[in-house]
Amino acid sequence: MNGNKPTIVSGITTTGQLTLGNYIGAIKNFIDLQKDNNLIIFVANLHAITIPIGKEELQGNIKNMIALYYACGLDPNKAIIYVQSDVLELTQLSHILLCNTTVGELSRMTQFKDKSIKMKAENGTEFIPTGLLTYPTLMAADILLYDADLVPVGKDQKQHIELTRNIAERMNNRYQQNVFKIPNDFIPTIGGKIMDLQNPTKKMSKSSNDPKSFIGLLDTPDLVHKKIRAAITDSDGKIAYDPDKKPGISNLLTIYAVLKNITIEAAVKTFTNSDYGQLKTELATTISASLEPIQTKYHQLIKDDTIDQLIAAGAEKARYLANKKLTEIKNIIGLNYKRK
Ligand code: TYM
Repeated sequence: MNGNKPTIVSGITTTGQLTLGNYIGAIKNFIDLQKDNNLIIFVANLHAITIPIGKEELQGNIKNMIALYYACGLDPNKAIIYVQSDVLELTQLSHILLCNTTVGELSRMTQFKDKSIKMKAENGTEFIPTGLLTYPTLMAADILLYDADLVPVGKDQKQHIELTRNIAERMNNRYQQNVFKIPNDFIPTIGGKIMDLQNPTKKMSKSSNDPKSFIGLLDTPDLVHKKIRAAITDSDGKIAYDPDKKPGISNLLTIYAVLKNITIEAAVKTFTNSDYGQLKTELATTISASLEPIQTKYHQLIKDDTIDQLIAAGAEKARYLANKKLTEIKNIIGLNYKRK
């Protein structure tokens, strides 16, 4: 860690398979930021168990996700990449933060409301795990444990980062010193919310039950073409960017613009004389071309079986930083009775 560089912290929950939404909203920024910053990236397996998930899926997702991080371009020489449950300090900090967070704040979180309503509908009972409610304080611990300056995330996480800032400010006031650095979110201007291909008024989600609604980072070119061809658009036949009136086409244009590294206006111009079919074919080709090098590297990494060593090395580096910060915090609040 270089003390002069800003610290960037982020993670992805190990539910389902990584989607193009995760790539555009988060991972692409991790890669862009790793050159000039201290980057700390993890796979959030503790967050994954806030909703029911089988053992096999949970374990498999961890390795796949770490391999995909590397395949997308994260560099172990530049970034600390680790598995959340390997850092025990996190859960202790999470408890400390919980003691400085109100039940009201947590129950107002939009994601909690959405997920708990869905769970109620699925199991037909009031069985809502408390971990789902306290999910954002665990996320705050992820961020505050490393004194993050910036947190690269998609739009849906904005409210959680705001809560993190509020908890940090509250504790700084309570203890009359800078216990925590106040982090900022870092949300891409284009692509902060990639939409579901089958319902473009909803966020593309890796926990969706309908595989046609998202592009997985490991989808074959054939599958990508099929899913994009089946994407819901509208019937007016005009290619224009208007997320309210034309959410489907606007979403396809957004994906195209981000992957080609051009503006939305330039993307619209590219397709001035095209029909929806041509836009879809060109977009599917662009997506497959972006995914191809990632998939090649991913399959190589899985075959080499070097992931376990990379995970162990990442955990050691993260634990060192986490232990240092937690000791500082415990000293400040009076939990370390053996120290001054
Ligand atoms: P998760 O796993 O739902 O999503 C991972 C990242 O991908 C972004 N994202 C999207 N961006 C654009 N369009 C989409 N359709 C889309 N879907 C997802 C998310 O905003 C996120 O940046 N709670 C977090 C994981 C987490 C975390 C943290 C993040 C745990 N601790 C600390 C930052 C800092 C989550 O479940 O993200």
